[in-house]
Amino acid sequence: MPVVERETTGIEGFDRKLSGGIPRNASVLLVGPPGTGKTTFLNQFLYTGLQKGEKGIYITLDSPPEEVKETALYFGWDFDDFGDDLVFIDGYSWREGGEPESEFAIEGPSDLNQMNITLADAMKKVGQGRKRIVMDSVSTLILYTDPSSAVKFLQVVSAKSKASDSNLLMSLEEGVHEQKTISTLNYVSDGLMKMRREEERRMFSIQRMIKTEHSRDWTEFEIEGDAGIKAKGEVEAKI
Ligand SMILES: Nc1ncnc2c1ncn2[C@@H]1O[C@H](COP(=O)(O)OP(=O)(O)OP(=O)(O)O)[C@@H](O)[C@H]1O
Ligand SMILES: [Mg+2]
Repeated sequence: MPVVERETTGIEGFDRKLSGGIPRNASVLLVGPPGTGKTTFLNQFLYTGLQKGEKGIYITLDSPPEEVKETALYFGWDFDDFGDDLVFIDGYSWREGGEPESEFAIEGPSDLNQMNITLADAMKKVGQGRKRIVMDSVSTLILYTDPSSAVKFLQVVSAKSKASDSNLLMSLEEGVHEQKTISTLNYVSDGLMKMRREEERRMFSIQRMIKTEHSRDWTEFEIEGDAGIKAKGEVEAKI
């Protein structure tokens, strides 16, 4: 059997559950209610790749790039360290009006064609080599388009990302979409991970992942200011 190449997430316990990480070029959906740690996971995954010398594209639809960077800095992750290896696609600033600062700003997530072109430009800018693309959040994309257009668009993005040797990681708010939308998004992705919070306990579960033998049980984790997401206790590999 061929060995599956995997991309480390930077989250030790999570990688162990996946026998080393997310399969190369897979597109994965991260689903959870607000405040469960989706953005932190995305940031940690992207930062880990950049540190390894990979390229990155951050499609931010819920906050401006400056705020994303500031939030990441609280964890010690400085996205300004990577120069042209990282491009932010600013899908937020259009809301505020005025001239956007970035050449990769879009005029709103409803224009999927423009977003597609901007993504192609961003890929050109970062150049050849392995990439990690993160999108925060798919929920906003759906809000400004409609579920079926968003799903079709993401299917294209996922195919493009595979063709350019990239992993795609996307966040989705739980509790605001119909089950049918989540099922369809699950179908067009290679993996689905869930996050949840009960009082002070945070947990994640890998629901689905191509090319990987894994359990679906819930693993407790913490979010720490200096380390980001960290699984609690010993995490067993496989089932
Ligand atoms: N510097 C920090 N140190 C420790 N915990 C933090 C820090 N920053 C944020 N957190 C915790 O992380 C949680 C927020 O995580 P995050 O923003 O990743 O969630 P999210 O799922 O993306 O939320 P949303 O759906 O609102 O976008 C908060 O509940 C907060 O307790
Ligand atoms: Mg978030």
